[in-house]
Amino acid sequence: MTKPFAVITGASSGLGAAFAHSLATRGYDLLLTGRREDKLQALCLKLEQLHPISCQYRCGDLAETDDRQALLQEITLLPRLDALINNAGYAEDGRFGDIDWSRHQALLDVHIQATTQFTHAALPNLLAHRGILVNVASVASWMPTPQSALYGPTKAYIRSFSESLALAYHRSGLKVLALCPGFTVTEFHEKLGLDPAEFYRSRGLVKAWSAEAVVERAFKDLDKGRIVSVKGWNYRLIVGLLRLLPMRWLHFGMKHAQVARYGAD
Ligand SMILES: NC(=O)c1ccc[n+]([C@@H]2O[C@H](COP(=O)([O-])OP(=O)(O)OC[C@H]3O[C@@H](n4cnc5c(N)ncnc54)[C@H](OP(=O)(O)O)[C@@H]3O)[C@@H](O)[C@H]2O)c1
Repeated sequence: MTKPFAVITGASSGLGAAFAHSLATRGYDLLLTGRREDKLQALCLKLEQLHPISCQYRCGDLAETDDRQALLQEITLLPRLDALINNAGYAEDGRFGDIDWSRHQALLDVHIQATTQFTHAALPNLLAHRGILVNVASVASWMPTPQSALYGPTKAYIRSFSESLALAYHRSGLKVLALCPGFTVTEFHEKLGLDPAEFYRSRGLVKAWSAEAVVERAFKDLDKGRIVSVKGWNYRLIVGLLRLLPMRWLHFGMKHAQVARYGAD
């Protein structure tokens, strides 16, 4: 019998690499993607040593049309696909008008274009194998992100898109999950220039969880048939408050936080 097969975008670090470990443990053969060949190669070797699976990788920038099309073509032609993890993502730091349009376009391409197109290409195969689709959104999908103006909105798109698909296909055997992590210990914040030792809290309302804990929770939620996964009591509380409190309270609080951090301008 052939093994189940999974594609993971952004598998060279963080949540994508944690998904690779978790799916390898579950016996999936893997196709990993990202831009950093050394990381992908090392991860594939390690997973093949640890588990009786085969692991391939493809290097490509999902903001580049040719690279995205090449992966899209590969996903379309896969003989078997049981899991697609649309995970690749990042945030820009800066006010909207201060960032070149090319960088905004790149973020839209990675978060929206790639996620939507890969999902469309994968759907027939995922349906045929009663597979799983995980799209990585964020707790930020429920709130404005003024210092990274496209991050919150693109993650809101990913969450809403995933919820729509989950409901559209809920009787088909396909499981769709919008994974909405809060702060998670990965390379994400370091790439924004933040010092992980200072930024990540080990307790309290903004406690950061490990990538492994977020992924473990995602599989538990998939098993329970849940559509949205939020790891941690702290982030479930924050999401609950964001959904229940009057919007103007959030905007008031965020305006004050902005002024405290960046000054009155
Ligand atoms: N960490 C958090 O606190 C947090 C919270 C909520 C949501 N998330 C989301 O979780 C997902 C994974 O991020 P992470 O936290 O694991 O951060 P990470 O360690 O920085 O991983 C990001 C992954 O995305 C890939 N990637 C980024 N830009 C890409 C591009 N243009 N083309 C191809 N691959 C690209 C990176 O690969 P290469 O660098 O090799 O290209 C890397 O494998 C993201 O969607 C992020 O928005 C993270």
